[in-house]
Formats: sequence, C-alpha cells, structure tokens
Amino acid sequence: MGAFSSFFFFFFFIIVFAFPTKPVRVSALYTESRWVVKNEGGERVKLACVNWVSHLDTVVAEGLHKQPLEVISNKIKSMGFNCVRLTWPLYLVTNESLASLTVRRSFQNLGLLDAIAGVEAKNPDIIDLPLIKAFQAVVKNLGDNGVMVILDNHSTEPRWCCSSADGNGFFGDEHFDPDLWVEGLTKMATLFRGVPHVVAMSLRNELRGPRQNVPDWFKYMQKGAEAVHAANPDVLVILSGLSFDTDLSFLQGQKTTLTFSKKLVYEAHWYGFTNGRVWVSTNLNQACAQITGNVMSHSGFLLGQGFPLFLSEFGLDLTGSNLNDIRYFHCFIALAAELDFDWALWSLVSSYYFREGVAGAKENYGVLDAEWAHVKNPSFLQRISSIQVPFRGPGVSGGSPHQVIFHPLTGLCVTRKSGIEPLVLGDCSNSEGWNYTNQQIIVAVKEKNMCLEAGEIGKAVKEHALLRTHHDGK
Ligand SMILES: *[C@@H]1O[C@H](CO)[C@@H](O)[C@H](O)[C@H]1NC(C)=O
Ligand SMILES: *[C@@H]1O[C@H](CO)[C@@H](O)[C@H](O)[C@H]1NC(C)=O
Ligand SMILES: *[C@@H]1O[C@H](CO)[C@@H](O)[C@H](O)[C@H]1NC(C)=O
Repeated sequence: MGAFSSFFFFFFFIIVFAFPTKPVRVSALYTESRWVVKNEGGERVKLACVNWVSHLDTVVAEGLHKQPLEVISNKIKSMGFNCVRLTWPLYLVTNESLASLTVRRSFQNLGLLDAIAGVEAKNPDIIDLPLIKAFQAVVKNLGDNGVMVILDNHSTEPRWCCSSADGNGFFGDEHFDPDLWVEGLTKMATLFRGVPHVVAMSLRNELRGPRQNVPDWFKYMQKGAEAVHAANPDVLVILSGLSFDTDLSFLQGQKTTLTFSKKLVYEAHWYGFTNGRVWVSTNLNQACAQITGNVMSHSGFLLGQGFPLFLSEFGLDLTGSNLNDIRYFHCFIALAAELDFDWALWSLVSSYYFREGVAGAKENYGVLDAEWAHVKNPSFLQRISSIQVPFRGPGVSGGSPHQVIFHPLTGLCVTRKSGIEPLVLGDCSNSEGWNYTNQQIIVAVKEKNMCLEAGEIGKAVKEHALLRTHHDGK
C-alpha cells in the first residue's frame, strides 16, 4: 500500500451513503442478503445494540440497584441504541431451583446487602420476584420502551466468561453438555415465543478451547439453530465462530445447511486486546490495514457471501487510559462505517453487583457512569452515533447514493456549507459527495474541478482546483 492510500486508510474512509431512516418500530425481522430487514422484503433495520449483562453470579440484570428499570430502558433508547443483547446463563432455564430463587435470596447468598437495599428502593416490584420472572420483566420493559432484545446464552453456570480452560468452551467439555444445550435453547426460545420485540437468539457465546473443531461446529450449531427455529420461528438465529468468536473462516469452504431461510445471521467479536498490543507497537496505518485484512478473511467476507454479520462484542476502555484501545477504535469505527454492519457495544454496565469474587467491580468498558444515570464519556457517544443509523441497504432512502468522507476520530463527515466556504466536519447526513478518479485523487461530485490531495504522511491534506495534469495522469 502506497503512502497516499495508507494515509487515507486511517484518517478518512470513503463509504457509499444514502440518508438515514426514521426510528425503528419493532416487528419480526428477516434477512435479505447481507441485510437485516423488517418483514420479508421490507426496509433495513440496522441493529445498533448495547450489551446488558444478566448472566453473572446473581443472575439479575445489572444496575437495578441504581436506577428504576424504566429509567435504564429509556436511557438506552435516548442514547440511540435500538436494541439490547441481553446475556443469560443456561441454568436460568434448566435449573428449576435457580430459576425460582428470588432476587433478594440471590443477593443474600452472596452477601450483597447494599444491592438488596438499592433494588428495594429503585425497583421494589422486582426484589421478590423469582430470577426467571425478573429476567422476563427486564425483557418486557425494554419492549415497552421500543427497544429490541437479542437473547444471548453466555455461560452454563452463572459467572464471568470466558477462558480457554473453563470446561465451558466447546461441545462435550466438562460443563458443556450438547443435549442440555439444545434443551435450554428450546426452553428459552419457547419462553419468548410471540414476544415480538425479542428479535433474535444467539446460540452461544465464544466457542473456544482445546476441543474446538470444525466438524462439530457444523454438527451442533445446525442442531441448535433448528431447535431454536422449531421452538420460535420468528427470531433470527445468530451463529458464533471459533476461537472466542473471532473465526468463521471455515465458512469460506463449507456452508451451513438448514431447513429454513431468511433467518440466519453470523456474529463475531473484535476488541483491541484481540490482537495483543499491536496497536501501540506498530504504526497505526499498518496495524489497521493488517488487522482489517484479518477480520475480513475471518468473518467480514460473509457480507460478500450474502449473510448479515453482527459484531456482537467490541468496545474500549472509556476512561481513556488505554492507548491500545484508543488506537484500535479508530480502526474499528472506520471499518464499521465502511461495511455498515450490525453491532452490539460492550457494554451498558458501569459496575457489577458481583464479578469474579468482587462486589461492585467496575466496568471501564461501560457507557454509563457510576450512578447509571449519565453517559460516562459524551464524546464517545457522539462518535458512535454516526454508525447507529444505516448508511445504506434496502429502503434507506434520500437522494442518490454517493460517497462520503468519514472521519473516524470524530465520527463526523466532510461537509461544506456553500461552494465558497472551506470544508469542515459535520453530520454525515449533510455530507458532500465525493468520487475517486483513476489517479487516486478524490473529486467533489458537485463541483467537478474541486479535489483533495494528500502529498505525504504527516502533511495536511490540500484542497485545490483540479489541474489538467491530473486529468492527463502525468
Ligand atoms: C441449581 O441451582 C442451585 C441454586 O443456585 C444450586 O445450588 C445447584 O447446585 C444448581 N444445580 C446444578 C445441577 O447445578
Ligand atoms: C450456553 O452456553 C454454555 C457455554 O458458555 C453452554 O455450556 C450451554 O450449553 C449453552 N446453553 C444454551 C441453552 O445455549
Ligand atoms: C465517478 O468517477 C467515475 C470514473 O472515475 C465516473 O465514471 C463516474 O461517473 C463518477 N461518478 C460521479 C457521481 O461523478
């Protein structure tokens, strides 16, 4: 990759663009080639979700000791997310004595007296509900607030996930009985049958560990997908990959065989730490080019094969103290804008009731502040708002499609108020249209003699009138 293109690779990304659509109303979702759409053949619904954790030791959706459920659901909506990936542990549906434990008892068992007092104050309706009913109440409230729900089986026992050696990584591992898995999926799918805003189920989180292999992936994932579809034909079925959900490359050579269609979505995870410290140890342009190439060959290629790809976990340390994460995210958001895939941010949570033995453990990747009332980092939210709306896809209308110049550092696009004013960054929906010439010069569509040129790495981009030498390519 030459100096010119690698410069642009990082700072600006060119993407095809049409104007964003209205807010989502919930109804059964289908797939149409690589897009998730409303009804069969309907307009695109871009999944712009946030992960809400409900699979840890207490098996209660986090944060209910800090704010009323209604307030949290509203906050999710007002932050621009249209959906929640709600995590649950298998035992919530297969272990009757766990499911019937009340929220209060679950906290008591772990000695979480502050959490009890908090839930009593903020969510008195929930404190004495059995865990499964509390889970249903959370799902219902999200729906009442127009937020879609994706049910994500995250672990077998209620606990933090995941490591290679936790006996929970692959079909047949010590704590991963495939028959119990199918049974649990069926129960969960049945429980939410006919609940229209429960739009999807992912079969399991982050397959991993020494036993993982491709033949078993096909065998069990197809079985699980059929079980979910049989129990609840309305939901999208989401299949995850190997190696902590970073690898679906085996689908380049072999296809999933299912009895149903228009319901299959693949998911992948991508964090800064997925690639170690590469973001701080290598030139960012080079790291981004290389890792993006990896992501494309491991999962991104599925879009080209006509399947939606749901980036169901990504995110960064929002305290701003992790440079590796900060740099990774420039690259992530550039690709997210260019490919316009569906996604779920990790996470909503600012702290956990109880995680890995620690009461009140902080979550630096969470969007909310300690009181679950405000956004921890407003500029981050501003930045991702550009990818919360679709750039393109079925029914995404408004003007003829054109290319925009996206600025990953801000999530804004290059715009101009009028022909004589300089270029500025602004909302992507007001962006100027651009086009590449054969000479790798970027030309304004409206004023054909205006172009942008980057001379060298580290130098500012120049805006100037297109000279004849460029036309001639000499
Ligand atoms: C079911 O849940 C209860 C309550 O949490 C727990 O004590 C028990 O060990 C669980 N049973 C199994 C088989 O894991
Ligand atoms: C959920 O995932 C765990 C592993 O994380 C697995 O052991 C279990 O069987 C799965 N259950 C369902 C119902 O998907
Ligand atoms: C963009 O450039 C190509 C040639 O480089 C040209 O064929 C096409 O018409 C241009 N599109 C617009 C909208 O100007």
